[in-house]
Amino acid sequence: MIGIIAGSGLYEMEGIVIKETRKVETPFGEPSDSYRIGKIAGTEVAFLPRHGSPHHIAPHKINYRANIWGFKELGAERIISVSAVGGISHEMTPGAIVVLDQIIDMTEGREFTFYDRDEIVHIDFTEPYCPELRAAIINAGKRSVAKLKERGTYLCVNGPRLETAAEIKAFSLLGADVVGMTGMPEASLARELEICFAGIAVVTNCAAGISEKKLTTTEVMETMAKSVEEIRLILKDTFHAVLSQRTCGCKDALRDARM
Ligand code: HPA
Repeated sequence: MIGIIAGSGLYEMEGIVIKETRKVETPFGEPSDSYRIGKIAGTEVAFLPRHGSPHHIAPHKINYRANIWGFKELGAERIISVSAVGGISHEMTPGAIVVLDQIIDMTEGREFTFYDRDEIVHIDFTEPYCPELRAAIINAGKRSVAKLKERGTYLCVNGPRLETAAEIKAFSLLGADVVGMTGMPEASLARELEICFAGIAVVTNCAAGISEKKLTTTEVMETMAKSVEEIRLILKDTFHAVLSQRTCGCKDALRDARM
């Protein structure tokens, strides 16, 4: 099974039939919503709207542990996360779709690990996204997306406020290409459960101070809505291409990670 975490709307995809919605209980509380289970190209998929539906959970209030645990409970071996970001580096202009390859985590106060009790685990996170899943997404994206970026460093802020111009300048010096509020701890929690994880970011706006324009959530929503069709095409082609057997290291992330 492949899990998709995204905004609402994406699961209304042509060629996908949602068979059921499944509510999952986890030791970490409730996921953002019920999981929508369907089938596409012979592969089972489970969609979860990250912010609930309708959209009502702020980025710093999302129960990331429950969301990722719920996917594991359903049998997902891979998760594709789709999110909106602000563009920092010059090629990250609104409408660009980025297959992320690196992360800088600046979040605070979030529950970010499954291992905060008796067991001490240090997962390797040198490459935060699954290389195999990234390759499948890039291949799919090349066919259907005009402004596909094959790599990009995602800097995760806590939100819910947007950034200052000086923060964005500093993030640029740090090597960030895009900025968002939800990429972490999704990625590291998936690794802790040995689930392959990839991030597709839609650049919805220029980050603070990059353009003269005032940042608005309306712009974010409108650009996201315009990109939905391209995201659907990428996902569909990725589902077709992805192999049933995993050959990457994600499935063995806990080997040699326990103290
Ligand atoms: N900053 C942080 N998160 C975002 C942005 C942004 O400019 N756009 C979409 N999500």
